[in-house]
Amino acid sequence: MNFQLTEEHLAVQQAAREFAQTELLPGVIERDEHQIFPAEQIKKMGELGFMGMMVSPEYGGSGMDTISYVLAMEEISKVDASASVCMSVNNSLVCWGIETYGTEEQKRKYLPRLAKGEIIGAFCLSEPEAGSDATSQRTTAVDMGDYYLLNGTKNWITNGNSASVYIVIAQTYPEKRHKGINAFIVERDTPGFVVGKKENKLGIRGSDTHSLMFTDVKVPKANRIGPDGFGFTFAMETLNGGRIGIAAQALGIASGAYELALKYSKERKAFGQEIYKHQAIAFKLADMATQIEAARLLCFKAAYLKDQHAEYAQASAMAKLFASQVAMDVTTEAVQIHGGYGYVKEFHVERLMRDAKITQIYEGTSEIQKIVISRGILK
Ligand code: CAA
Repeated sequence: MNFQLTEEHLAVQQAAREFAQTELLPGVIERDEHQIFPAEQIKKMGELGFMGMMVSPEYGGSGMDTISYVLAMEEISKVDASASVCMSVNNSLVCWGIETYGTEEQKRKYLPRLAKGEIIGAFCLSEPEAGSDATSQRTTAVDMGDYYLLNGTKNWITNGNSASVYIVIAQTYPEKRHKGINAFIVERDTPGFVVGKKENKLGIRGSDTHSLMFTDVKVPKANRIGPDGFGFTFAMETLNGGRIGIAAQALGIASGAYELALKYSKERKAFGQEIYKHQAIAFKLADMATQIEAARLLCFKAAYLKDQHAEYAQASAMAKLFASQVAMDVTTEAVQIHGGYGYVKEFHVERLMRDAKITQIYEGTSEIQKIVISRGILK
């Protein structure tokens, strides 16, 4: 067992850290307040290789491992979780899904531009009545011979308005339940596809989250991903990897808040000394650091197993379950350490606390992670 990061890993971590500090930190408070999508910053992330980190160079990606992805996600999320969720969906759910299960034609057509961040992807599974209960898809994809006809509504779609390519999950054979579901690549300008209302969210307010409507949308047969009826397995397998990205996002939100609290505790004086010298604060910092380290190790373990092509569904669910709880706990304590300053926007920790909550909800709530873990244990 080796806990040492390689020089390449350290270089990726350093590059992501520098990018976050120089390009994402300026303006992050305003983007959060006014719900501004970080379009320019995402473009630069694409140029630096962060939008297609694990895509092979053959398809225009960076060809890195999942550990590198966790390291970059942590650094970006420390500063701007709105940018990192866009990065995570593009990398884990869209690029990985197409590269792993797409046809050669689909890979050549979509991956190079997605991996370079020239275009962005979205993953459309959730519906008004199918969030956690993802097998209950109401969006239909009727087989019309050369094409499928899509009808339905998707909800809470990350990158909903900024994407050009949408992976859409829909039901083709309702009597077969989850074995009748398919996944499709739908292009933005396809007639009948409409981007709906933008959600006004508690956190990750710079990310654009929309509902999407499909009315008699014709999707060519060539755009189906995998064999007929493979869509639900496709979605589950893709989410197994996605959960590593969100776990790393939660880790970054926690470590970002911790670093700010540590710095503040060395600057702020109360009762005649810097507050970190008070045991009440020092013990909080000790707990936060320990929780973060444990979350980081779970993220690395899930990433390592994925890179080894070993079973990792349970490990990724554990990483997400734990890291998202750590994100909530640590950001709450970071606000507490900052006292009144923690409750106002300039000090960043209130935003991190708001951003932390979504990591317990998207890509499967904490309760869903417990289903995945317990089924793995009891199998
Ligand atoms: N990996 C691989 N396969 C899985 C799986 C996993 N983690 N979880 C379930 N499956 C498979 C099962 O093995 C089963 O396959 P077979 O019938 O071939 O054996 C099939 O899926 C159906 O599973 P269940 O019978 O267990 O179905 P269920 O309805 O009882 O539970 C569930 C399924 C695990 C709860 C699933 O619906 C689920 O994961 N729900 C959460 C969905 C989710 O994460 N949504 C997030 C939306 S995407 C998003 O948030 C992106 C974003 O914008 C940030």
